[in-house]
Amino acid sequence: MREFDEKSVTQAVIGRLATSDDPRFKRVMTSLITHLHDFVREVKLTEPEWLTAIQFLTEVGQTCTEKRQEYILLSDTLGVSVLVITLNHPADKGSVESTVLGPFYWQGAPELPRGSNLAEGVKGEPAFYSGRVLGEDGLPLKDALLDIWSGDGEGNYDMQIPGETAMKARGRIRTDAEGRYWFRSIRPTFYPVPTDGPVGRMLRKMGRHPYRPGHIHMIISAPGHLPVTTHLFVAASQYLDSDAVFGMKESLVAQFDRHAPGVGPNGERMETPFYTVNYDFRLRRS
Ligand code: BEZ
Ligand code: FE
Repeated sequence: MREFDEKSVTQAVIGRLATSDDPRFKRVMTSLITHLHDFVREVKLTEPEWLTAIQFLTEVGQTCTEKRQEYILLSDTLGVSVLVITLNHPADKGSVESTVLGPFYWQGAPELPRGSNLAEGVKGEPAFYSGRVLGEDGLPLKDALLDIWSGDGEGNYDMQIPGETAMKARGRIRTDAEGRYWFRSIRPTFYPVPTDGPVGRMLRKMGRHPYRPGHIHMIISAPGHLPVTTHLFVAASQYLDSDAVFGMKESLVAQFDRHAPGVGPNGERMETPFYTVNYDFRLRRS
């Protein structure tokens, strides 16, 4: 028989991994147990606090549905998602940085001709996006695919709009022989992450706001290159300095130039002010 005190229990738990035959699992679990026990000792966790944590995690699980992943939101708002992404996709050689995928990706957006308006019938100020997809050597990548999605000009994604069943502000665009892409959408605005669940309660208790700065999402891929899940952030958007999910990267902030009503870059007559934004993405070889 052997009993453990508040220190020796840690080694005892780690010791029970001795017969595990997965070295990576062993390494991860050993570290997790060490940090978890150190945390409990450091804050001298009380029994009511421990129970509150268990109830909170239970509620996070219960809030998950086919359409909602509260655990990912918890990971996002605690900065874990972006930490994992940044560790695994270091930006180098000027390649485009990765950031969070978020919960509003919808696989299977239609592939549209270059120049299409992705945001037909969507609220928001028009914006014309253009640029190139390049390889590590700076040469253009033909047939690279941009899978694009954003909320509307009021910060709502199609999935969040009651009664909306169709895809909105989404589409896939391929680059031409010179690696160029161009399309029309809207200038995205800041919006809150979902706050009606336990993570929202946690943010309020922490005294934090739930907002993300205005951004448009993209997954960019090209044969022979590593795909990148990224955003373009709207320069001067509110909350660029305090993104609720810590996903903002300065290299992804794009200038949205405002134009008075007139002729758009596609020759279309624009009755309202519109924006243009130009951004090149550089991919790494796989
Ligand atoms: C988003 O960008 O859509 C998002 C990302 C993480 C959590 C919630 C929303
Ligand atoms: Fe988003």
